[in-house]
Amino acid sequence: MKELESKIKEAKSLEELDRVRVEIFGKKGVLSKEFAKLKEIANDKKKEFAKELNLKKEALFSLFEKKKEELENYELQKRLKAEAVDLSLYSYETPKGALHPITITMNKIIDYFTALNFSVERGPLVEDDFHNFEALNLPKNHPAREMQDTFFFKDAKVLRTHTSPVQIRTMLKNSPPIRMIAPGAVFRKDFDLTHTPMFHQVEGLVVEKGDVVSFTHLKSILTEFLHYMFGDVDVRFRPSFFPFTEPSAEVDISCIFCDGKGCRVCSHTGWLEVLGSGIVDPNVFEAVGYKDVSGYAFGLGVERFAMLLHKVPDLRSMFEGDIRLLEQFR
Ligand code: DAH
Repeated sequence: MKELESKIKEAKSLEELDRVRVEIFGKKGVLSKEFAKLKEIANDKKKEFAKELNLKKEALFSLFEKKKEELENYELQKRLKAEAVDLSLYSYETPKGALHPITITMNKIIDYFTALNFSVERGPLVEDDFHNFEALNLPKNHPAREMQDTFFFKDAKVLRTHTSPVQIRTMLKNSPPIRMIAPGAVFRKDFDLTHTPMFHQVEGLVVEKGDVVSFTHLKSILTEFLHYMFGDVDVRFRPSFFPFTEPSAEVDISCIFCDGKGCRVCSHTGWLEVLGSGIVDPNVFEAVGYKDVSGYAFGLGVERFAMLLHKVPDLRSMFEGDIRLLEQFR
């Protein structure tokens, strides 16, 4: 009896206790064997024996029940501890990505023009001579081709040197009126502090039927656009030359670093050049078979805008993929 009691008391787990239960209370267990002895016991002693055995059984059983409850409780506590969730724990932050400053700038430019109902057009990066030069009033051997350090392929194709060929593609595909911008990558054989062989431009083109588009339209939309991009800056239009526009103008804003007073960034001129523009040259319209139309066009470099907007001092950092730069644009 004492031995059975201590077996129950010393069980360390519910599993062990269950083995003890089978050993004591099972069909072939200790108690069954004891009860089997009744058969051999003299009749007058049977009652006494059975009574004692039942008392023993009851005592063992209540001990067993108590132990079972104790172990169940213990294992429950153990599980609660192991599976506990600490709601006050700070979780690790999921790393957040960031848009590249060029993308941010590109999106801002696209937002402005799409709000004015300009369509967004795309063209191939590998262009042919016709779209990249010829149709833009840059005939073969024209000295203006020298302005663009071109990457040539063997089969007379080129990596487009500007987004202007998308003007040509869009005009050939549609009829006027046209109001479009063409954002995208362009390529030039140039690599120094302020030039990378790949960069981005946004081209703009407006064409209307009849002689209705004037330089005034060009001036007003670009002035508004530059105010949207750079805030309260002065804007000036400076006569220039592009083969595809006549007259042409380069557009400057007052230097955002020194407020036009003159500093290193603006080479002490107080002005920053940000756009090329002009009235579409009649030769361009002729190349795409347009008659009795008028239009203006403009082109800008996105990297330059991004560097000015976000005060990034070195162009090369735009292409290094350095996480420390990108993190600042989250
Ligand atoms: N394509 C010119 C460049 O890459 C930029 C440009 C200037 C585009 C004047 C135009 C424009 O449409 O009218 O330098």
